[in-house]
Amino acid sequence: MSEIKNKYKNPLLSAEGRILSPSRVAPGPMEGIMSPLYCAVMEKMGFADYWITPFFRLSEACPRPARFAEWIAKYSGGGFPVVIQLMACRPEIAAEATSKILDLNLVCGIDLNFACPSKTVTGSGAGGAMLKNPAEIEKITSAVKKSCGSIPLSVKIRCGYQSPVESPEIVKAVLAGGADFIICHFRTVQEGFKPVEGGLSRLAKTVECAGKTPVVGSGDIFTPEDASAMFRETGCKGIIAARGLLANPALIRIIEADMSGEPRPDEKVLKLAYFENMVRIAVSDPEEYLRGASLKELAACLLGRTNPLFKRLAPMNPKETVAAAESLIAEARQMEYLDNK
Ligand SMILES: Cc1cc2nc3c(=O)[nH]c(=O)nc-3n(C[C@H](O)[C@H](O)[C@H](O)COP(=O)(O)O)c2cc1C
Repeated sequence: MSEIKNKYKNPLLSAEGRILSPSRVAPGPMEGIMSPLYCAVMEKMGFADYWITPFFRLSEACPRPARFAEWIAKYSGGGFPVVIQLMACRPEIAAEATSKILDLNLVCGIDLNFACPSKTVTGSGAGGAMLKNPAEIEKITSAVKKSCGSIPLSVKIRCGYQSPVESPEIVKAVLAGGADFIICHFRTVQEGFKPVEGGLSRLAKTVECAGKTPVVGSGDIFTPEDASAMFRETGCKGIIAARGLLANPALIRIIEADMSGEPRPDEKVLKLAYFENMVRIAVSDPEEYLRGASLKELAACLLGRTNPLFKRLAPMNPKETVAAAESLIAEARQMEYLDNK
């Protein structure tokens, strides 16, 4: 146990005490958001302990190991532990991919995505559309589990495709497939990201159905109070926060401070430091850091588009000048800008 404590501060453990993931409070995968800039600044600030990658779509044939290595490298650049998320419809391809990935020795876990609501994804029968077919979920989970060896396997689901009444069948399939833990977003696929009533009681039901298998909850964690309510009202063993990290990047650290009874770090100070680092990292290597979700998109989420600082940043071309970035940072230090969300 002391070894576990030394390695990670707050790991997710199985009922038997095996490490299932490096942290009980983790960033949710976000396709399109987890750009090199986002990952670099979050890592630099120490605002996350590991990444679950956005989904890697497996379709007709299993890619070569180099493709997986390239994908993982995007997230492990800072030496971070990485869980790769796979999206598959075919058990044999998912199993082959898992073997190839594990031979690379680059990840600390495999996660299967049966949750994505995007029409492009579900239209091809993948992601959240798989929830309509628990028998197939079981087959894929079981095939991947056989290739996983001692590496933990998680399965990301939603509470149902159309209705949360589907949840027990889905959880049964995931457990029969041998997943080590479940990550569950409380909305159904059809609900997308709409507000829903009773999300926490849906999660509590999932936790009950999962028995000894730990459940990590997901959905609407925007404040530390949302996190404590999710832990308290659902019995989940961990949580992931996704959109909430964009406006409050230190959210995980604040939640963890609450969990351990330590004083909360100052959100405003950390937000300013995050902003400064984000701008400096961006201008230090625009070729590397301004691919994918750009500085402007991250700044819009952080500050809000009506914030005067964002208005100053928006027309700025970070390729132009480091001095411009420094003057922006100096302006940000007038803290009221960061209050003005
Ligand atoms: C832009 C965006 C991209 C996402 N991409 C993924 C993804 O690739 N894989 C996944 O499992 N979930 C993905 N999610 C879902 C989140 O990980 C999370 O489960 C969901 O947003 C609910 O949590 P939140 O309310 O804290 O945002 C994505 C969410 C957003 C907003």
